[in-house]
Amino acid sequence: MYEQISHSLLNEILNNLKTDISKKDLRHFYTRLGANYYAIHSLFETLYGGREDFKQQAQHLVETMARKYIERPDHLKDLDSEREKDHNWFLHQKWVGMALYSNGFAGNLNGVREHLAYFQELGINLVHIMPIMYCPEGRSDGGYAVSDFREIDSRAGTLEDLEHLATDMRSRDILLVLDIVVNHTSDEHEWAQHARNGDPVYQDYYYTFTSRNVPDMFEQSMPEIFPETSPGNFTWDEKMQRWVMTVFNDYQWDLNYSNPAVLIEMLDVILYWANKGVDILRLDAVAFLWKKIGSTCQNEREAHLILQLLKDCCQVTAPGVLYIAEAIVAPVEVTKYFGEDAVIAKECEIAYNATLMALLWDSVATKNAKLLTLGIKNLPVKLERATWLNYVRCHDDIGLGFDDRDIFAAGYEPVNHRKFLIDYYTGKFDESHARGLPFGQNSKTGDARISGSLASLAGLEHAIRSGDQKAIEDAVKTILLLHNVIMSFGGIPLIYYGDEIGTLNEMEFQSDPNKAGDSRWMHRPTIDWKRAELRNKPGTTEFAIFSALKRMIAVRKEISVFEDYNNRELIDVENPHLFVYARYNQMKPTENVFIVSNFNNQTQYLELSHIFSGTEMAHKRLVDLYSGQSPDLFKKTLVVPAYGFYWLREMI
Ligand code: GLC
Ligand code: GLC
Repeated sequence: MYEQISHSLLNEILNNLKTDISKKDLRHFYTRLGANYYAIHSLFETLYGGREDFKQQAQHLVETMARKYIERPDHLKDLDSEREKDHNWFLHQKWVGMALYSNGFAGNLNGVREHLAYFQELGINLVHIMPIMYCPEGRSDGGYAVSDFREIDSRAGTLEDLEHLATDMRSRDILLVLDIVVNHTSDEHEWAQHARNGDPVYQDYYYTFTSRNVPDMFEQSMPEIFPETSPGNFTWDEKMQRWVMTVFNDYQWDLNYSNPAVLIEMLDVILYWANKGVDILRLDAVAFLWKKIGSTCQNEREAHLILQLLKDCCQVTAPGVLYIAEAIVAPVEVTKYFGEDAVIAKECEIAYNATLMALLWDSVATKNAKLLTLGIKNLPVKLERATWLNYVRCHDDIGLGFDDRDIFAAGYEPVNHRKFLIDYYTGKFDESHARGLPFGQNSKTGDARISGSLASLAGLEHAIRSGDQKAIEDAVKTILLLHNVIMSFGGIPLIYYGDEIGTLNEMEFQSDPNKAGDSRWMHRPTIDWKRAELRNKPGTTEFAIFSALKRMIAVRKEISVFEDYNNRELIDVENPHLFVYARYNQMKPTENVFIVSNFNNQTQYLELSHIFSGTEMAHKRLVDLYSGQSPDLFKKTLVVPAYGFYWLREMI
């Protein structure tokens, strides 16, 4: 592609490069810049073209990319080239992730480093370490309020510790994922401090207003994210004598991306961590990046343009580095964060599959797969070269963001159905063994979300307390059933730390004033490594869960159709308790695998002719790849035990 205006501007920029940059060997950099510059320029112009300082900002953007390229260590540049050649590397089924807090998992970064063998024991080769950047002592939203994007918080360790960890992880072929909190900073960040002290340059890094006029206009259409602890979207700052936009907590100031200086600063931060050896960057709260009066200030088109720009620029400097989009938004919106086109409008390679996560919890509560099947059927097909992060639990709450039309189609009424789910997971029914708490209850809208650890939501806590052996077994089966889906669905499974040994709710947060109002802390555990030893002791729940997950992971890695090339087909079956899909390879149909999951507490039956109609499989003997056994058949009917699942393939 040759486009006059962008190329003449690029020539001008390159001629003006400071000599410390222009003297270096930048061959690879120039090739990639040339290939991407038309896109970069168009995006930058769409966003900021109207500004008088547009050319200076464009110069600054290119200089930032160039400097970071010069600083990029050689071994990472080699990795970039390798990954460019094998550009679908992350779609392979071999990747299995775990997300953890370094302090909760093992004290700090050095503790994590001492437990690398634990990841390998389970089969984990991608580790997301949740925020470790410098943040305030108390008001930090679990590290998601950053006060210095280039320093490690001393509670987690030092930059050196991280570099050692990254090196050791790489030598064991484990990918490192870190968070970049792109949407906001802590009110203690130096930019916020300058703004507070009256510096207009930094006030323009945020959305600040002297009166309520503009905030009131915004509030008309903006929902509240933390209605209980931080109602509204603006906070009055006494020192600054201004209102500042704070969508999340009142100490998390939203960055103003209509100012190109902010975008360039964050690009610099992204590339800084890329150069520290981080393989994948989790971009936090990306749906919120652009604010517009009259809108919900989520999923705006400009937020997507910003992500495209950040991707294109990263492609030039550090093409081996991937992005994860953390956009917990409606199903139709989520897939847009992969971008519109894998070549010319790419955003993030990976995105959280919040839709699947929430639907799975719906199935556990209703004991059927009606909404799950509908919701997945209506999930838009995603872009090529893009993959899901499939998870059951994470450090956040479970939001019930299903499509109302799907809820109706499944035969429920949306308001009542959501209320049922909240009541179910907070253990309000006698029949419910779930032990969660509500989160984000909004008395104005009636909305609420759910907190609680996987095991406690699945009924294990209640079962253990009541000493009910059958209930313990059912809870363990439920935990495995949920993981069977994320392992086989297509995408990277992400296990939440502690779930692999059935960690229950931890209620200590209630006595910490900085945490008490935020029930998400009940599922951010401190691992008890003595208890974790029980994973080696048959007869314990720790053993039952850990060994089953370990097996699932090992088997997953052997099943080539589990790679993610959008090679999944949902299969309609008449039995509403079963969730059935095929993972296929058109070239080698004998390798196709059929996943059958029973969400009900009773045995269910499936006519095999149903799933195999018209295929050769109807006449073959089947094997369940997970257990290695042939499944129980009743004549031509598959018998699926309560909370059971199969990974079926024809016997070779
Ligand atoms: C993301 C994080 C969440 C945090 C929010 C604000 O959603 O996952 O924990 O509260 O961003 O940073
Ligand atoms: C909201 C946000 C999501 C975040 C969550 C934290 O749902 O959309 O990004 O994870 O709040 O509770």
